[in-house]
Amino acid sequence: AETRRYQFDVQMTSVTRLCSTKSIVTVNGQYPGPTLFAREGDHVEVNVVNHSPYNMSIHWHGVRQLFSAWADGPSYITQCPIQPGQSYVYRFQIVGQRGTLWWHAHISWLRATVHGPIVILPPAGVPYPFSPAPHAEVPLMLGEWWRNDTEAVIAEALRTGGGPNISDAYTMNGLPGPLYNCSAQETFKLKVKPGKTYMLRLINAALNDELFFSVANHTLTVVDVDAVYVKPFTVDTLVIAPGQTSNVLLTAKPTYPGARYYMEARPYTNTQGTFDNTTVAGVLEYEDPCPVGSASSSTKNLPVFAPDLPQINDTSFVANYTAKLRSLASTQYPAAVPQQVDRRFFFTVGLGTHPCAVNGTCQGPNGSRFAASINNVSFVLPTKALLQSHFTGKSKGVYASNFPVYPLMPFNYTGTPPNNTNVMNGTKVVVLPFGTNVELVMQDTSILGAESHPLHLHGFNFFVVGQGFGNFDPAKDPAKFNLVDPVERNTVGVPAGGWVAIRFRADNPGVWFMHCHLEVHMSWGLKMAWLVLDGSQPNQKLPPPPSDLPQC
Ligand code: C2O
Repeated sequence: AETRRYQFDVQMTSVTRLCSTKSIVTVNGQYPGPTLFAREGDHVEVNVVNHSPYNMSIHWHGVRQLFSAWADGPSYITQCPIQPGQSYVYRFQIVGQRGTLWWHAHISWLRATVHGPIVILPPAGVPYPFSPAPHAEVPLMLGEWWRNDTEAVIAEALRTGGGPNISDAYTMNGLPGPLYNCSAQETFKLKVKPGKTYMLRLINAALNDELFFSVANHTLTVVDVDAVYVKPFTVDTLVIAPGQTSNVLLTAKPTYPGARYYMEARPYTNTQGTFDNTTVAGVLEYEDPCPVGSASSSTKNLPVFAPDLPQINDTSFVANYTAKLRSLASTQYPAAVPQQVDRRFFFTVGLGTHPCAVNGTCQGPNGSRFAASINNVSFVLPTKALLQSHFTGKSKGVYASNFPVYPLMPFNYTGTPPNNTNVMNGTKVVVLPFGTNVELVMQDTSILGAESHPLHLHGFNFFVVGQGFGNFDPAKDPAKFNLVDPVERNTVGVPAGGWVAIRFRADNPGVWFMHCHLEVHMSWGLKMAWLVLDGSQPNQKLPPPPSDLPQC
């Protein structure tokens, strides 16, 4: 194993999209940011130097961070932010993971522009468990672009209690593509050769939208999700939620030179709210063997084929797609699903409202303020980092260990109950002894229109053992759980008007954030944290913090 060293200079950079220019926060002047490469087993060191005027921290989304919680990155959870002019070296090892993950800023909405791919190759000499071996591998990062400054967009929403302005475009590797006005020059192109297979490393880095993705006239074979191999299956279209990643194979077919096909992404949602309903397109272009300038090298007059994407609210497509995802569960890549459970949890996940504190002028429904919560706690970020407070034994005034946990109970969470005004603010964690096998059922509460919530857990992969629509039934549903080859991942959609059940083993000491990866829901409080205690053995303890850990 090697040590891979990277330098990340966080800085302001002028970028033009859709014919308007704004100054954005970037890493090394790049949007999207640089790709981090490693092999499974490698150590990674990233020196992040903050030259921007914003507080910053970087999260290595999906990296398990075994015994390296200090490097996980969410601001005020595992570290204080890196202040302007300061730096911090993130040190971690890639253990037992290979595939595609990504890194992003983890403070306010700065991840809108501060993000990039993480490509994890298998150890040298270890082949992929699927075939054919790809001729080339291409990161394909989907994002979301606002003409306005995203920090101003979220600050205004939080000030008024209403929803934020929706984005102006989706992007593919930073480019909105030809279906937007004033954007034809900013189109991602992938040149391919007939007969060759390409591996697209898909990442959904959009802030607030699940996306369908499809390539005209080509099929996609899904071989992994969230850096875990799956049993390969082939589809025309896939769906990917913010935070999720997936490697897919695309085989270029015999066709005429210069043939062009759109690769498109556009949102899946079944909320009634406002959202950006536009389409980003990139171009898959077959190589033209004719020299540039010769008659046949001009593709201008050839048609470009577009894919058929599902209807925007096609929830049954999404349910069928997610049901296809199965762990490889082979001898070489077993699925270590906890068969016994030590603690069972039932969390309600959803949107609600707060009455307005002052004079009722908030811009949420009926003059209220939007709130999002887990078990009716809308999480408030502390002003000191939870992990440091825990490690130094100074949790008083920073967090409480009384996150409300209820026994499993039947309850009607669906339909349209009145506005949920029971939501309370708090900074509360669930404490787990080292090694606890956890089963967690998350139930969407549908209180403000059904919307799927992509829940992301830091520090672990979990197994998705069950999911369904309506109310979870503790008497009947567990009997149907898949404990053999459930998909293993770090971000799962709690279906709109439904529930999902996951299992994980708490074998990684530290404080681990869990939150909806829709940034607007995160801002409204749809987040909580698990505190996993040290085990009794010497190799089951969180090491002390690095000396350059930022202070608040
Ligand atoms: Cu990718 Cu806590 O997030």
